[in-house]
Amino acid sequence: MKGAEVFRFFFAFVALALDLHRIECLDNGLSLTPPMGWMAWERFRCNTDCKNFPDTCISEKLFMNMADRMAEDGFRDAGYEFISIDDCWMEKTRDSKGRLQADKERFPSGIKALADYIHSKKLKLGIYADYGTHTCAGYPGSIDNMVLDAQTFANWTVDYLKFDGCYSDPKTMSSGYPKMTKALNATKRPIVFSCSWPAYWNPKPDYMVVAKYCNLWRNYNDIQDSWDSVVDIIDYYAANQEELIKAAGPGHWNDPDELIIGDFSLSFEQSKSQFAIWSIMASPLIMSNDLRSLTPRFRDILLNKEVIAVNQDKLGVQGKRVFKSTDHYEIWCKPLADESVAVVVFSRRTDMPLEISFSFKTVGFPATSASVRDLFEKMDVGVFNNAFRCLVNPNGVRMFKLLQVDAFS
Ligand SMILES: *[C@@H]1O[C@H](CO)[C@@H](O)[C@H](O)[C@H]1NC(C)=O
Ligand SMILES: *[C@@H]1O[C@H](CO)[C@@H](O)[C@H](O)[C@H]1NC(C)=O
Repeated sequence: MKGAEVFRFFFAFVALALDLHRIECLDNGLSLTPPMGWMAWERFRCNTDCKNFPDTCISEKLFMNMADRMAEDGFRDAGYEFISIDDCWMEKTRDSKGRLQADKERFPSGIKALADYIHSKKLKLGIYADYGTHTCAGYPGSIDNMVLDAQTFANWTVDYLKFDGCYSDPKTMSSGYPKMTKALNATKRPIVFSCSWPAYWNPKPDYMVVAKYCNLWRNYNDIQDSWDSVVDIIDYYAANQEELIKAAGPGHWNDPDELIIGDFSLSFEQSKSQFAIWSIMASPLIMSNDLRSLTPRFRDILLNKEVIAVNQDKLGVQGKRVFKSTDHYEIWCKPLADESVAVVVFSRRTDMPLEISFSFKTVGFPATSASVRDLFEKMDVGVFNNAFRCLVNPNGVRMFKLLQVDAFS
């Protein structure tokens, strides 16, 4: 077989493999590409003190502000769709009919009105609840009320549910989370279902079963506002990639947690690294930052259409780390639907830029010649044979797309 034929064979094989296990996956027609949006948790946490922090407390105003920024500053047009409330939105008690209710001071208009506002901006609303007796911050849990809570969220026209796992017995999750899947389905409203089930299970559950009930799921620790946290998550994903990659595909994704680009700790290079690696891993792109004060450099990273296109690629293959050197650099790659290959070259050096080369073979590109496009520089670099060489900044990445030049020869 010639290079191009081998290549087609490889893609046919990937497509077949995806088709085979798609049969076993949650069939609500949602999240055929990784969900994109914004979520309050990492940046705004559980700040309920609106008296002293009126602009940053968890309140309807915060979510309305973020919806405005998403709609007006290009995020919606780039594909970011969900504005998601996390913990700390509820009253401490249910109402007289046993229903969850939003905090009356911080959400005076109620969740339905907030959903209407968000929908008027052509965005979608995500909400948060917990599988156990209480949410992680101590608000009412859903363990005995899954049908009622699903119906409440559907009545409020919610579009996405993050279902956390605090205050519960992890051993019951493999039967308990599917109850919420069923309750959401029974509402007849399309609601993306984000599970936290694998993050609480130890040892890890069978991801093929999780993929049957959830559109996305957290696997590992919450992200924190630090580079250490980002690389810890990357290392976890790389160490477990064989198992994680098998479970991912259109409608069902591993979720390494929020993007912290534009927050307090990541440098410009580190921010590009998080964005590139989350994109190549086909991870949900869910920002947690203050869109009102994001500087243009960080905004440009988050709005990079070519990198987003790698993440949102229809083939839906989660990319993998294919090489790790003793010299602190890594090569990641992801096959794309147009038969090209995306590559991230990641340097973990902390001293100076490093010259790194990778062979086309290493990244699964079978042809000898490739047209190389630089996705952060947004330019074609040229046609290269067998390998490519580049300079990578400390804690930084370069990201490329390798395209066939002899596809029809
Ligand atoms: C949902 O709305 C329907 C129709 O308005 C109402 O009958 C039902 O009680 C509501 N359910 C909840 C849980 O709010
Ligand atoms: C409910 O489940 C059925 C069968 O899996 C599916 O066809 C349908 O799209 C689901 N509906 C919703 C609203 O999730």
